[in-house]
Amino acid sequence: MRVGILGSGLMGGKLGTIFARAGHEVVFSYARRKEKLERLACDAGRKARAGTPAEAAQNADALLLAVHWSRMDDVLAQAGDLSGRVIVTCSLPMNADDTGLALGHTTSGAEELENRVPEARVVCAFNTVPSEVLFSVFEARSKANRPSLVYCGDDAGSKGMAAELIRDAGFDPVDAGLLRIARYTEPFALLVGQLAYEGTEGPEMAYRFERIGE
Ligand SMILES: NC(=O)c1ccc[n+]([C@@H]2O[C@H](COP(=O)([O-])OP(=O)(O)OC[C@H]3O[C@@H](n4cnc5c(N)ncnc54)[C@H](OP(=O)(O)O)[C@@H]3O)[C@@H](O)[C@H]2O)c1
Repeated sequence: MRVGILGSGLMGGKLGTIFARAGHEVVFSYARRKEKLERLACDAGRKARAGTPAEAAQNADALLLAVHWSRMDDVLAQAGDLSGRVIVTCSLPMNADDTGLALGHTTSGAEELENRVPEARVVCAFNTVPSEVLFSVFEARSKANRPSLVYCGDDAGSKGMAAELIRDAGFDPVDAGLLRIARYTEPFALLVGQLAYEGTEGPEMAYRFERIGE
């Protein structure tokens, strides 16, 4: 798959590296310094390169959107025409000082994103795990009992692509339903963040759902 990374920070930098190491073609974009994107691409291996958001979006099968909520309009404007593109967003609609969600209950960040780019197909995924755990999960991908990762979206085809990326990153994809379910997964992401960053055992944590009695 060709994967464009829009936002190459803690999440985008690590997930882009993981996707490239899993065999996908990756373009890292949107950081404040071009050298950072080039270094990420160099470290991720020969499947990765650095580019502009427009270059990342061009011919991409899937885009990972991984920016602070306040940068959303800017990165989308730089990406250009996203008609038909699959956008996998891990971005949370945090307020300016990152103390809480700026919206919820009757909508979600993922749905607001879809309203902004109705010509694209949005999947909400990777927002419920801390960046600190990503490399460890990827390294343990051949073991049994993979951690779960919830995702949701309205389009079956784009959800299938997201599930493939989730699997390639070492998680067990859990289809939570339509995009509106992001109203539940986004607050859940804050719970995971609370446990990861305010708990006593550090942020390298993921979660796993189990069905009892099956
Ligand atoms: N971090 C987590 O564990 C985590 C977990 C779940 C969900 N999320 C969500 O995922 C999204 C990304 O989080 P993150 O932690 O990866 O954020 P981050 O590390 O701050 O990365 C954001 C990226 O945007 C770039 N950027 C910011 N302002 C820019 C500007 N003016 N021009 C160009 N590039 C700019 C940053 O550039 P630089 O590289 O130069 O700083 C960075 O590459 C957020 O919505 C967050 O809520 C994060």
